[in-house]
Amino acid sequence: MFRADKFVEEKVKELKNTIKGKAIIACSGGVDSTTAAVLTQMAIGDALLAVFVDTGFMRENEAKNIEALFSKLKFNYRIVDASREFIDALRYVEDPEKKRKIIGAKFIEVFEREAKNFGAEYLIQGTIAPDWIESGGGLRDTIKSHHNVGGLPERMNLKLVEPLRDLYKDEVREIAEYLNLDIKERQPFPGPGLAIRIIGPVDEEKLRIVRRANAIVEEEVEKQYPFEMRPWQYFAVLLPIRSVGVHGDKRAYGYTVAVRMVDSLDGMSAAYFRAEHNLLDRIATRITTEIKEVNRVVYDITNKPPATIEWE
Ligand code: XMP
Repeated sequence: MFRADKFVEEKVKELKNTIKGKAIIACSGGVDSTTAAVLTQMAIGDALLAVFVDTGFMRENEAKNIEALFSKLKFNYRIVDASREFIDALRYVEDPEKKRKIIGAKFIEVFEREAKNFGAEYLIQGTIAPDWIESGGGLRDTIKSHHNVGGLPERMNLKLVEPLRDLYKDEVREIAEYLNLDIKERQPFPGPGLAIRIIGPVDEEKLRIVRRANAIVEEEVEKQYPFEMRPWQYFAVLLPIRSVGVHGDKRAYGYTVAVRMVDSLDGMSAAYFRAEHNLLDRIATRITTEIKEVNRVVYDITNKPPATIEWE
């Protein structure tokens, strides 16, 4: 049987012995990277720097919440607001793969800068067993390129340390619980963030619209269902088409938001979620009244395959 107390004791000892210098981790605030950061911090204290790169494509209040979490955990941390850089790099870029590649490269550039400034010699990652065990799991990477800091250790001559690499998700959760981490479990969220939930080029206005629409979907779903009954993912996508509608008694020519909710076990395949109509009604009403640029809301009823979960 897995014993969280034993694991923590032994791993901290082991980390103390292996890490002989400064270390850095890109921490998203998710359970894996945060648990890896806490274990490393227990071993080497402030010789670990936890970095959160704010791409500007995060959900509402995300950077603020991360900052609160990091300071509660007494991390030596940096929240890097790189939103200007990211949005400038993406301006006028239409192709989804190009968008992903640009975001991935930018992320590495920003992170690399932080690592150099700090003088890090080690890179800590929250990799867990399913991330590297071959289970036909290479498939999704061939469909869409997922960004991570995978290539960094060789490129920057950093030594890679993965404290959780032999563990499964439920074991990581047990450790997090044992360490009192109280990380609110959230639905999976793609690394490139809201940038891939705006179809086509990204700009500040579209980001504001999709961020608010996404927050409304999250609020309403979370109000409707307790945690165990919620879909695996639920979010909003901003489409590049406009259509005619009425706002008050005036003709409006507004954006369309697509709402997507899916159930899935591992993201490899997914079934669209049979959401209740009262929930869909509330979402559509709120989005069209609270976001004046939007006059139409549609619900995505495709499974994966043939669709993917995200629209880009
Ligand atoms: P798709 O859209 O390929 O998504 O059906 C499958 C799962 O992966 C998430 N996703 C990503 N996660 N970086 C990530 O970390 C990415 O670039 C990325 N793209 C998609 C998606 O939200 C879903 O959970």
